Amino acid sequence: MDDGSGRPSTRHPSAGQPVLLNSGDMSDDNALDDDEDVHSDASSDLVEVSEEDICDSFVTRDGRLFHSHGSLPYPLPADGLEQHVSHFFRTYLIWRLKVQNEVLKALMGSICPEMQLVREVLASGTGRALDLCTGTGQWVLDMASMFPNVKFIGVDIVPIQTRRPPRNAQFEIADVTEPFRHLDGSFDLVHARCTAFSVSDHKYPIMLREVVRVLRGGGLFISGEFKNYPAFPSRRAESADPNVSCPSFHRFLMLTAQALHRLGVRLNLFHKIPLLLEESGSFYGISRRSFQLPIGNRHPEESNRILGSQAAEIFINFVKAMESFLRSSGIITREHLQELMRGSIYELQHVNGLVMDYDVVCARKR
Ligand SMILES: C[S@@+](CC[C@H](N)C(=O)[O-])C[C@H]1O[C@@H](n2cnc3c(N)ncnc32)[C@H](O)[C@@H]1O
Repeated sequence: MDDGSGRPSTRHPSAGQPVLLNSGDMSDDNALDDDEDVHSDASSDLVEVSEEDICDSFVTRDGRLFHSHGSLPYPLPADGLEQHVSHFFRTYLIWRLKVQNEVLKALMGSICPEMQLVREVLASGTGRALDLCTGTGQWVLDMASMFPNVKFIGVDIVPIQTRRPPRNAQFEIADVTEPFRHLDGSFDLVHARCTAFSVSDHKYPIMLREVVRVLRGGGLFISGEFKNYPAFPSRRAESADPNVSCPSFHRFLMLTAQALHRLGVRLNLFHKIPLLLEESGSFYGISRRSFQLPIGNRHPEESNRILGSQAAEIFINFVKAMESFLRSSGIITREHLQELMRGSIYELQHVNGLVMDYDVVCARKR
C-alpha cells in the first residue's frame, strides 16, 4: 500500500480499514500461518500501521492519552496511569490491563476459563482464535505461548500491543462493531473480555452476529465481564449494603454508568449476554459461571488478601482513569468529583469484605 510517500499507508480504523499492527515479521518464513488470504476477506486491504500513524490513533486530554475515535464511546485513557504524555508512545506501560490480566488468571486458575473445552475446540478445527477488544493483547500472548500450533489474532481500535508478537500471534487495528474482515467459519474460538465500556448496547448484537459468522460450527464463544457494582457476599462484612459501606465508590460507579448511558453504553451487559446468545438462535450449550474477585487486603483468607490488594489497585487506577471522562460529561462538579474520588480510593483500601462479580459465559456455535 504505497501512498506515494514510500511508506506503508493506513487509514483510521473507523473509516472501515482494518490495519495490521505487526512489524513485517508475519510475512517471513517463521510465520505460522501465511494463509491470511484463505481465512480473511481478500477485498479488505490489510496494511501495516506506520510509526507516524500510531500517533494519529491518540489525542491528549488533561495530560492523558485517549483514543482518537470521536464516534466510539470508550471512556478510559490508553496510557498507563503513572505515565505522562510524551511522544514515545511505545514506551507506555499499560499497567492496568496487565495487572488485570494477572488478577483474572489468579481468580479463574488459568488464562482462559473452561480450559478443557478450549483445548478440545482448538484441537479439532481451523487452528485459529480471535480476541475482540484485545487491549494490550496479553490474553493473546499468553494463549499463543500455551498453544503454539494455534494462530491467535487480537483486534483493538488502538495500537497498544507489541509490534513484535510471537510467530503465532497477530494484532489488527479495527472497530469490532463494524463487519470483521475474516471469512465465514474461519475461527475455532472467539474471546471477548471486559468489553462492557467499549461496545454500546445496540452494537453488541451486531458484534455477536459477526462472531457467529466467523466461528465454525461447534466453535466456542467466551465472554468475561465485570458486574461494575461492588457487593458484600460475606456475613463478616461490615454491612451487606455497598450503598452504606462504600457509598463513595458506589456513587462513583453509578455516575460512571449514568455518563456512559448518555453515549449509548448501558452497563447491564453483565446480565444480558446469555440472553443475547439465546435470542440469536445460533448457539447451544450456553453456560454462565460467576467468580467473585475480592477487593482490598482485609479478606479473611491469605490468598484473597493478595488478590484483593492487586484488585484494589486496579479499581483505584480505574477511578483515577475515569476522572477526565466524568469531568467532561458535565454531570458532576470538579469539587464533588474530587471528593468522590478521594472517598472511593479510601473505601477501596479500607472496607472489609468487598467483592466484584466477574461472569464468564461460554457458548458453542450451532
Ligand atoms: C477494558 S479494555 C479490555 C482489554 C482486554 N480485553 C483485556 O481484558 O485485557 C477494552 C479495550 O477495548 C478497546 N475498544 C474500545 N472500543 C473498541 C471498538 N469499537 N473496537 C475495538 N476495540 C475497542 C479499547 O481500546 C480497550 O483496549
